[in-house]
Amino acid sequence: MTVPVIAIDGPSASGKGTVACRVAEALGFHYLESGALYRLVALVSLREGIALTEAARVAEIARRLDASFRDGQVFLAGQNVSEHLRSEECGKRASEVAAVPELREALLARQRAFRQPPGLVADGRDMASVVFPDAGLKVFLTASVAARAQRRYKQLIAKGISANLRTLSRDLEDRDARDAGRSVAPLAIAPGARLLDSTPLTVDEVVGQILDWYRESAPRAKD
Ligand code: C5P
Repeated sequence: MTVPVIAIDGPSASGKGTVACRVAEALGFHYLESGALYRLVALVSLREGIALTEAARVAEIARRLDASFRDGQVFLAGQNVSEHLRSEECGKRASEVAAVPELREALLARQRAFRQPPGLVADGRDMASVVFPDAGLKVFLTASVAARAQRRYKQLIAKGISANLRTLSRDLEDRDARDAGRSVAPLAIAPGARLLDSTPLTVDEVVGQILDWYRESAPRAKD
């Protein structure tokens, strides 16, 4: 029997991470935050001074990446790098390295290895289109730029990090354009994906909608 997958794709700050994690918890499924893998490669490329033009070396980082995930934290060679990964610098670099086809190819097997019983919830940009095209439920989660900038603003302020709404909006728009405009695995609504606009919804409502869709698509999963 194939292990069920729920693929949740969407733009930056659409709330995919929070929602995917909650859906995984509710179903007792594993969780893959694929963006963290791109961010890890970005962090290593910055630390080691590897240029984006050196595609083979960027892909090589993915092959030797000593990454582990525990309790919502990300470790690189045993060191907790979660805070570094969340930085805007890392996010921007991640969306740049993500345009390197050799890197995307090198990360495929690593992402697919997360598909373990009893099931997987995976979030990213190409979960439904490339990594898990046979996912039983595909969701494209989005929200207006203003709503996403506002959410990110609140998160940063809550952490005591100063932030500027205009700059955040501009960064999000730049990242969206880069992710949607690249030639490999561009951010797009995959065929068969359900569109969910979270602008007017609470996290609970978004999670509830995805669980309803999952139960409709896999009626026996709820028993
Ligand atoms: O989701 P997150 O913002 O952490 O992802 C960081 C960057 O990694 C994105 O802007 C995107 O360019 C890239 N990414 C990707 N494919 C994925 C996940 C992330 O290209 N499946």
